[in-house]
Amino acid sequence: MDIREANQSDIPRISDIYQACFPRERDHRVWVEATFNAAPRCIYYVIEQDGAPAGYILWCVKNGFRKNTIAELEQIGVHPDHTRKGLARKLIDTSFAKFKKHISDRGYAVGAIFVTTSEGHFAEDLYISTLEVSRSAVISDYGNGNEVILYRKMLPRDE
Ligand SMILES: CC(C)(COP(=O)(O)OP(=O)(O)OC[C@H]1O[C@@H](n2cnc3c(N)ncnc32)[C@H](O)[C@@H]1OP(=O)(O)O)[C@@H](O)C(=O)NCCC(=O)NCCS
Repeated sequence: MDIREANQSDIPRISDIYQACFPRERDHRVWVEATFNAAPRCIYYVIEQDGAPAGYILWCVKNGFRKNTIAELEQIGVHPDHTRKGLARKLIDTSFAKFKKHISDRGYAVGAIFVTTSEGHFAEDLYISTLEVSRSAVISDYGNGNEVILYRKMLPRDE
């Protein structure tokens, strides 16, 4: 299970996985291309199975580059052909370490983690167990239901 930062040539495969995971959304390739181009603010990482990406994760800086930034796990998708094999858990663990290094290489630190999911989605437990986040708020009627905001403060506020 190789986990690495995505490159330009991964865009079609990430778009396919995104489409398979989030079929209600539209223009998947356009969204992935635009987001890929948001580096160094946002970085995609992929997890490979048999030499090809089977899943991806998207980490972004939420509140501008600053001494202690907020890192958002913005999206994660594992292709339905590869789910329930522990890929997402591994991807979250490893990519978060890589994203923290990406931020520290720019002279900043990750001071907090932010991630949201639909209320009732099993991903809430996954995020709690991997990132040690906890429920901070629930937004009612967000998209197709309520959205849970999970958060963990890791470093004190920067002055
Ligand atoms: C969410 C997703 C990334 C999980 O990927 P995955 O590789 O199958 O996850 P893992 O195999 O690492 O499993 C992680 C945990 O979730 C649980 N899980 C996975 N799929 C599940 C399902 N369909 N129902 C209930 N629990 C599930 C596993 O049991 C595991 O828990 P455990 O380690 O305590 O046993 C994948 O299902 C997906 O891409 N779904 C569509 C997109 C999506 O919903 N993204 C998250 C939205 S916030």
